[in-house]
Amino acid sequence: MKTNRRGFLTTLGVTASATLLGPSLFDFKLLAGTPFVRPDVGTLTATDPILIGYSTAIAAMQALPATDVRNWTYQAGIHYSPSAMPMTDWDMCQHATHFFWAWHRMYLYWWERIVRKYSGNPNWALPYWNWTAEPHLPAPFRVVSSHLYTSQRDPNMNSGAGSLPATDTAYTLPMSSDFSNLDYYSAQSAVEQSPHNVIHGDVGGATGWMSYITMAAMDPIFYLHHANIDRLWDLWLAQGGGRADPTSDTTWTTQVYNFYDENGATQSMTPCDILNAAAQLNYEYAGEPAQVTQSCGTIPIWLFRYVILLVVPFPQPPIGPDPYIVEVSLANVLPELENVLSNPLQQVLLELDGVQAAKPPGATWEVYVGLPAGVAPQPSSPFYVGKMGLFSKGIKGHGTATLRFNATKALKEVVNSGGDSAPISFYSKGIVVNGQQLPGNPQSDVTVTQARFFVQTRSRQ
Ligand code: C2O
Repeated sequence: MKTNRRGFLTTLGVTASATLLGPSLFDFKLLAGTPFVRPDVGTLTATDPILIGYSTAIAAMQALPATDVRNWTYQAGIHYSPSAMPMTDWDMCQHATHFFWAWHRMYLYWWERIVRKYSGNPNWALPYWNWTAEPHLPAPFRVVSSHLYTSQRDPNMNSGAGSLPATDTAYTLPMSSDFSNLDYYSAQSAVEQSPHNVIHGDVGGATGWMSYITMAAMDPIFYLHHANIDRLWDLWLAQGGGRADPTSDTTWTTQVYNFYDENGATQSMTPCDILNAAAQLNYEYAGEPAQVTQSCGTIPIWLFRYVILLVVPFPQPPIGPDPYIVEVSLANVLPELENVLSNPLQQVLLELDGVQAAKPPGATWEVYVGLPAGVAPQPSSPFYVGKMGLFSKGIKGHGTATLRFNATKALKEVVNSGGDSAPISFYSKGIVVNGQQLPGNPQSDVTVTQARFFVQTRSRQ
């Protein structure tokens, strides 16, 4: 089947112009046969045609006129630019909105078609960086003479001495509750925050491109990071349990975004066009389970309601490099909390409001709920609720962020041991260097205005 596609593309390569690819886009994909397989970069050597092709494409795209929509910098600008006078369709990336997964899927898809063209390899597919399995920056991206390299990264990540902490690459229990979320928007924002945001900061470090939304998509590793985030969307759905795309939310299903194809022609899409990567976009990820088929208009089985349990104002000094502890008394809500914690249909979420840093901190914070005084913070403990990392929203100039953590397990531990105090505490961290977790060296403090504990209740629609 692979050979069929190659043959098809070779014969039709020249005639498959904008007109053919425009209105009959989906016919073309059906004709194209089996999906492209996005490989795990960890399985590729530096001389693999995929990485050679990527390098060839980067050079070719950089050489295009700056006004060509397929130019490397133009494409990065579609994500976000540092420019005060952005070009058409620039600064479009969706962060801390309901469109994070969908917009980035569309963006990668059209970008991949452009790279495929300029790679000279009709079978080119974007590799993913499975950081959970390999937390070092993939070796071919660390070769100084390569187009896959940039000096604009944390020097330890670029030297190979540095790696991502396990807290930052986790998306399942025990270290992360991302995949425990049954509703799309909660799972999406949990994944966006960590691993997504925190890995941006880990790779970019104090001043590197990946730390800055305005520069991130200039780094060739950006797209492999995002391919993995996109793969997580598939993997989350594959967990089942009623997990579903928000196919009945018409605000979500009808949102239109513009991109450019490999011929420079404008292409528009809505989330309904991209629910099923293999069937609609003709790609899948090496090793992923069967993709779950979704369609717009379907009513998800779960309905979610949120009620505030407790509001906690934050003290004045912002969160910095030192341990930061906010006392929380549960005394007034204890009976209610005990009820909630014994109901399998209810969860308690911790929300941090008004989160803002003056610039990308280049550090992340382990967040705990209920960690007893004098007990050392360990991400393996039940009091660990997740990693705080800022990217885009939450950085001055991009608005304040709202961050959520699942505090159910931590509060259960507090209540079961007869406690009525659930301090929220923060410990700044850097990356791992030569096997050692470094403390954080934040380039900026983080202000939080208040915390709120929410009860999430789910019921069948
Ligand atoms: Cu829109 Cu990881 O960035």
